[in-house]
Amino acid sequence: MEHTLTRIKDHADLTVAELRTLVDPLRLPRHMAIIMDGNGRWAAKKGLPRIAGHKRGMEVVHEVVTACAKLGVPALTLYAFSTENWKRPAPEVSFLMSLLTLYLRQELSLMKRENIRFSTIGLVEDLPSEARAWIDKAKAETASNAGMVLDLALSYGGRREIIEAAKKIAADMKSGKIEPSALDERTFSGYLDTREMPELDLVIRTSGEQRVSNFLLWQMAYAELYFTEALWPDFTERDLLIAILDYQGRQRRFGKTSEQLGS
Ligand code: FPP
Repeated sequence: MEHTLTRIKDHADLTVAELRTLVDPLRLPRHMAIIMDGNGRWAAKKGLPRIAGHKRGMEVVHEVVTACAKLGVPALTLYAFSTENWKRPAPEVSFLMSLLTLYLRQELSLMKRENIRFSTIGLVEDLPSEARAWIDKAKAETASNAGMVLDLALSYGGRREIIEAAKKIAADMKSGKIEPSALDERTFSGYLDTREMPELDLVIRTSGEQRVSNFLLWQMAYAELYFTEALWPDFTERDLLIAILDYQGRQRRFGKTSEQLGS
């Protein structure tokens, strides 16, 4: 903890351009995921309706996606709407759905320009038809892009994803497609929504909350977690770079000792 604070303090005087040069391009997280929290609190602090926080949050998504693509992060998953978010007041849910459509309309050109491939996890079939149509369009028009994968978690829940995988595995066992003895972590991962994504290395959560909120539960097994007090609408490229530098300063042991890792 003390190390983390020292590092952040050291970075406080540096410009964004200087921070960028400190990032080691060979040790970027292969897959980074963000729980974008605090939109409502940001708006309340400013005496604005909650939806104003989501609107500003969408602008931050633009900034962060652009920065990650330019850095060369291979995959970025953003928690845009959880299975639990359906329980929010209907006008807020409906605003978030229209914001998703607006986001895809506006950002498709950025995805093309930055060679980003668009993808989703979660129950996209739950979303309104207009949003689904834009999702299909963005996926189709970026399918051959070989740069960063931008993955939006939409109507996503980690437990649901695991249960769905278990059901499919059970069906495949029943039909003889796989033997129970052949089921291992690799095979199980192949039944998850993230089957084509690289290993999850870093999860960032904004707004000071320290929870995982049913996000990428299986995938988080060996991920590094990074929590910041910044509310999502206040999160900047600088915060992103500091999070990545913090990640790059950590020793990942995967259950081994420091001595085994040779340091
Ligand atoms: C959490 O803040 C945020 C969400 C539930 C939605 C995330 C949506 C965005 C960042 C904007 C749209 C993004 C895209 C990709 C279209 P909260 O409302 O729970 O904040 P609070 O905890 O302060 O109430």
